[in-house]
Formats: sequence, structure tokens, C-alpha cells
Amino acid sequence: MDKLIHTGDKATVTNDGATIIQLLDIVHPAAKALADVAEAQDNEVGDGTTSVMILSGEFLKEAKSFIEDGMHSRTIIKGFREATRIAVQKIRDVEYKVTNHQSPEFRELLVKCAKTSLNSKLVASYKEFFAEIVVDAVMKLDADLEKNMIGIKHVQGGSVLNSFLVDGVAFKKTFSYAGFEQQPKKFENPKIVILNLELELKSEKENAEIRIENPEDYQSIVDAEWDIIYGKLENIAKTGAKVVLSKLPIGDLATQYFADRNMFCAGRVAQEDILRVAKATGGQVLTTVSEIAETSLGTVGYFEELQIGAERYNIFKDCPNSKTATIVLRGGAEQYIEEAERSLNDAIMVVRRAIKHASVVAGGGAIEMELSRIIREYSRTISGKHQLVVNSYARALEIIPKTLAENAGFDAVEILNKLRQKHAAASNEGRWFGVDVNKGSIFDTFEQNIWEPSLVKVNAISAACEAACLVLSVDETVKAAKSEQEVTQAEMALRGRGRGRRFRK
Ligand SMILES: Nc1ncnc2c1ncn2[C@@H]1O[C@H](COP(=O)(O)OP(=O)(O)OP(=O)(O)O)[C@@H](O)[C@H]1O
Ligand SMILES: [Mg+2]
Repeated sequence: MDKLIHTGDKATVTNDGATIIQLLDIVHPAAKALADVAEAQDNEVGDGTTSVMILSGEFLKEAKSFIEDGMHSRTIIKGFREATRIAVQKIRDVEYKVTNHQSPEFRELLVKCAKTSLNSKLVASYKEFFAEIVVDAVMKLDADLEKNMIGIKHVQGGSVLNSFLVDGVAFKKTFSYAGFEQQPKKFENPKIVILNLELELKSEKENAEIRIENPEDYQSIVDAEWDIIYGKLENIAKTGAKVVLSKLPIGDLATQYFADRNMFCAGRVAQEDILRVAKATGGQVLTTVSEIAETSLGTVGYFEELQIGAERYNIFKDCPNSKTATIVLRGGAEQYIEEAERSLNDAIMVVRRAIKHASVVAGGGAIEMELSRIIREYSRTISGKHQLVVNSYARALEIIPKTLAENAGFDAVEILNKLRQKHAAASNEGRWFGVDVNKGSIFDTFEQNIWEPSLVKVNAISAACEAACLVLSVDETVKAAKSEQEVTQAEMALRGRGRGRRFRK
């Protein structure tokens, strides 16, 4: 289910665990510690944050009864850590690997992982459509798989299915001055100058103190200002470039100058877009134009300014070393597009992970059920308190299929029973059985293509265990008194405020 979080005057509708945690105002220190661990999961693998929170909560719930019975928390921590070690080991044993990265099977694997990640999101009904876009976008990147190289742009209006992928860079038309209308808006194979430089007539007399003897000298100062800017513009035009982009403003004089020479310019381009254009076109971001080397210019197969919905967009396509892509998201409400972006982000992270470690396990609670069975079996081989703890860990893992069943509106007890039976069968056939959230029964989630990168699961389980152990290892909460200096400062501030009020009266 989605959550609507109200912060001041903004309402965010989201299902993304990481976003929910970030928006919540968490006060309790233990809860804060859990939130930090979940955030780490988001940074590390980008998906599975909700799983971490649910699992760690369940581990703590199991631990609570032991603590109440007087068991030492060290014993519990030891048991949990051992069970986690077995779980991670087991995931490595059962995971499904694809070794040939060029095979169609590999792409198929990526699409399936992306779809699973999108399943639980608002855009789930378009998961096929978006999974393809996400996989195409990530496949464009170079070996580093740098996420910043995928831009996501919002254009309100139109259908969600009008969203598309640009093989290159796209950004919204920047603020432009008079003269812009006369510039051509379409080029084939243009050279591109990328600047971090202001192209505006500067009034130098405001920056410096100048003494002149007679009024004619004043004209020479004004001339010098014009010479400086024209010098810069000439240098740019000389390179033969057709497109000029700058992070800083490009003023009306420059705009008109470029228009007269059939060139296109855009100033105040956002930093991330400038970087992506540089990467895609092979150009360099220049801070001076005094000597522009041919090699620092970028080139692109096709440049165009296009109308998308109600906005104008600058689009750079068919880049020579196209290592970047842009997803243009369309849709009705801005909140919907924002949530779509968050969901795509999760899917992008999942696909990146899957490319790096091409191994997957079945989702829908199947892997958790399997781990639960194995750990329960293991607990029978040990004795004493330790057995109780490890056994409770196995029970806690069942919270994932249980939550999935409950959220889908089905009888969790019945589904769990069926799952336990399947997984307990001597043959290995039942090991990928998980929750069928559409029919309210169970099915082989591996066959149904509900795949998740095993790394997401390994990380989620380890992080949840660490979070629970972190809280368990605390035996006392001490509220630190403020230092004397801080107290006096706070008092002074209070008194100051009081005085102010009196004064206003
Ligand atoms: N079609 C499906 N049928 C059953 N279970 C599914 C299906 N698709 C996804 N799942 C399961 O849903 C769970 C993921 O849910 P969700 O994406 O809401 O949380 P998360 O990935 O833990 O956190 P995040 O909020 O970061 O995405 C996984 O356990 C996954 O296996
Ligand atoms: Mg997810």
C-alpha cells in the first residue's frame, strides 16, 4: 500500500521505504538507528528498504520475549548473527547465475528484476513498458554504471505511456533573451562548445575605480568593454561550432551575435545536464575561450529543440560515445510523476546491481521461506537457549511472505501454512514457492518471473540483523546533560527573546 505523508503544505504519495523514512520526523533514538540502517540499504543497493525495516522490526519482536524471560542479549545477538551467516551462505548456494552477459537471456534477467522491483509501486500497471526503458537506459552506460548518467525529466501532461527514452541528453529549454527566435533549432553533426563562462556585456566600471582626465577617455573604457565580449564571441564562432552551451548566463548581446551567425546557444544549463552533455558528446567544459582546442569540442549526431507537451526541450541524440541516456516521464499529476521517478530509481539501481552480479533469487517471499526452513532445520542440530534463538530467527523470516499476503488482502495464516508445506517437501521442487498476490494462493515465483538480485536480499537480511543487534546491544539509555556553555547560551537566547517581546510592546 502507498503512504501519503503530509509535510507542511506538501503531500507526498509514495511506497518507497527510503522516501518514507526520510520524510518522517523520527524522534526515538532507537528508531533513528533503524532508520539509518535502512537508509544505508537504500544507498548501497537502492531497493529493499521496506524489507529491512519489516525484518528488523520482527527480529526485535522475537527478541523481546527472550529479554522478558531474562535471557542475556548477548546470547540473542550471537544466535541472530549465526543464523544470518547461514542465510547468506544459503542464498549464495541457491541463487541462479547467468555468466554470458551478451546473451539474450541476460537481458531477460534484467527485465525481470526491473519488473519485480516495479511490481509494488504506483506504476505497476505499466511495469512492462518501464522495465524495458530502464534496462535500455542502464545498458547504455559504461562499465562504471554511474547513475548520474541517466537523467530523468518530468513533463506534466500526456499519458504515462508517452514517456520515452532519449539515447543521449535532453533538458528543458533554458531562459533565453531576444534574438533566440532567430536561431536555428536543428543541426546535423554540429560541433558543440560547452562553457562554464558568462557571456554578457560586463560593465567594468562597476568593478573597478577608474580615474579619467578628460571626457573622451570615457568612451575608450566603454569600447574596451565591448571589445572584451566581442573577442570572446569571435573566438567561439571561429571554432566552427554550431551549438554553444553554458552553465552561466548567456546575455542578449551574445544571443543576437550567435543568431546572426546561424548558431544556437543556451545559458544557465543545470550542472548535471552540462556534465552529461560533456560525457555524451566527448567535449570538455571550458572556463576560458581564449584558445579553444579542436579536441575540447563535442559533437553529436543530431541536435534539435522539440516541443514535448507544453514544454520546449533541447535534445542531443546519436552521441559518438553515448554513455548516457535520459528518461522523459509524462503523466497527469506532478505527484504521480514524482513517485514514478522514485520507482524508476529503484528499478535502475536493481538493474545496475543485477548487471554487476548477474545472480538472482525468486521473490514474493519464496527465498525467505526457504531460508526459514533451512535455519529451522539447522536449529534442531543444536541445543539449549541457542536453539530457541535460532529457531525464532527462522520464524521471523516468515514475516515477508506474511506481509505480502496481508497487503494483498488474503488470509496470511492459510497462505503461510501452504508455503511451509511446499518448502518442507523432500524434493527440491517447492523451494521457489511464494505468495501469489493476485489469486491469494501460492505459486512458483521463479517460473512466474518474480526475480530479485540476490545481492538485494543478502544486503537486506544482513542489514536487518545488524539493525536489530545494534538495538539489542544497548542496555541503558543515557540522556546527556547539555554542557554548561550550551545551557548558558540557551538561557541567553531565551532572555533575549523575552526582551525583544517587551520591546515590541
Ligand atoms: N508479483 C509479485 N508477487 C509477489 N511478490 C512480489 C511480486 N513482486 C514483488 N514482490 C515482492 O515484494 C517485495 C518488495 O516490496 P517493495 O518493493 O514494496 O519493498 P522493498 O523492495 O523491500 O523496499 P523499497 O520500498 O525500497 O522498494 C519483495 O519481497 C518482492 O519479492
Ligand atoms: Mg522494491
